[in-house]
Amino acid sequence: MTAVPTRSTLPAGFRWSAATSAFQIEGSRDADGRGRSIWDDFLEAPGAIVDGSTADPACDSYRHPEVDVALAAGLGLDRYRFSLPWARVQPEGRGVGNSAALDHYSRLVDLLLDAGVVPFPTLYHWEMPSIVEADGGWLSRDTAERFADYVGVVADRLGDRVAHWYTLNEPAMTTLQGYAVGALAPGRQLLFDALPTVHHQLLAHARASQVLRDRGAAQVGLVNNHTWVLPRHDTAEDRQAAAVYDTLHNRVFTEPLLAGAYPDLEAFGLPPMPVQDGDLAAIAASIDFYGINFYNPTTVTAADAASPIPFDIVPTPGAPVTGFGPEWPIMPSALHDLLIDLHARHPNLPPVIIGENGASFPEPDHAGRIDDTDRIGYLAGHIAAVGEAIDAGVPVEEYTVWSLLDNWEWADGYTQRFGLVHVDFETGRRTPKASYDWYRDLIAATRPAVVTKGSTR
Ligand code: BGC
Repeated sequence: MTAVPTRSTLPAGFRWSAATSAFQIEGSRDADGRGRSIWDDFLEAPGAIVDGSTADPACDSYRHPEVDVALAAGLGLDRYRFSLPWARVQPEGRGVGNSAALDHYSRLVDLLLDAGVVPFPTLYHWEMPSIVEADGGWLSRDTAERFADYVGVVADRLGDRVAHWYTLNEPAMTTLQGYAVGALAPGRQLLFDALPTVHHQLLAHARASQVLRDRGAAQVGLVNNHTWVLPRHDTAEDRQAAAVYDTLHNRVFTEPLLAGAYPDLEAFGLPPMPVQDGDLAAIAASIDFYGINFYNPTTVTAADAASPIPFDIVPTPGAPVTGFGPEWPIMPSALHDLLIDLHARHPNLPPVIIGENGASFPEPDHAGRIDDTDRIGYLAGHIAAVGEAIDAGVPVEEYTVWSLLDNWEWADGYTQRFGLVHVDFETGRRTPKASYDWYRDLIAATRPAVVTKGSTR
């Protein structure tokens, strides 16, 4: 799995993208009447962010969206994945929408279209308005309806030009890291009591999907984080621990979306989901594509009997690691295996979009040219894995690099750089890395000989 696929191994029309998210790049947290989000609250907690930084100025993208659009267009992307922050659009968590914020995103959409790049926004990349969180956040069923209302406000403004939408980014991380263990906002530590947030997010996605389709959207999907779960030892205990983790991270989301039912949670001693009549049918009918963010496999072993959770996550033996160390092993074959397994479980899989894939590596903190061969190797390996899964019949249609830019990596602040483009956070200056040129050339090499400007894909 070393060769980088070229056009001959990818289907005609395969799409290329790169991604960012609003809170990680925008800065300007006080501009245009923005409301507070759970991340404004979380980053103020002592010790919550490793370098004590805030997401201001980050990449200063709210003030200079045209700079990012030029970089996206320079790659020759089919689509650019960015996010809209609920707390900018509805500072009070409800209502008609803040016109200055909506004007901003309308301009971003126009800039992209003018540059020949299809806008592919995410409507929720972890930025719950604080005021909605105070009402229960994803623990409350009512948040699904409030989210759908917000999505309607956005679609009314942008839906004449935006046809493709991601609803939620990585609901698995919101549940596991945000509500179960508290490593991400809102920083709750509810362990298994966090499970209702799975259902309420899926319901919110389904309600939003209906709103978008009613307004003429061409393509709506959700993008989740997935991992390939490996038992540390080939023992019944470790295989059982792996099965529980696989259920909580992956299958509790894929099965309702792709097969209309939750996995058997009670078999693992887990509480049932708060499902009401009609919920599962709405969730199962809600996606035109399935988005997968993939970064690394997860190796688990059975925990001590005294532990409140039945598994421990441990380093993956023999795997090289990214800037996060053993927490983040590199194993491109895991993406291939995950895609093959998902397709085997769900033969009628809708089109699959790889919504994020990428890695951070220790890099010099200056604006000079960065020869990031580690990143190129990581991306090439994973793109090859996608190509092999396509050859085996998995309907993957699009691949997205995380990230276009170095940015504010949540609880890791500015210490982890994922960008194809280096960002000097003091000056805002952008410098494409070697991986930027490599990705641009890869995209160009997969194009048909005659390229029509102004793609609408
Ligand atoms: C998130 C991004 C994040 C990336 C790298 C994904 O889980 O969607 O916002 O920066 O992983 O950690």
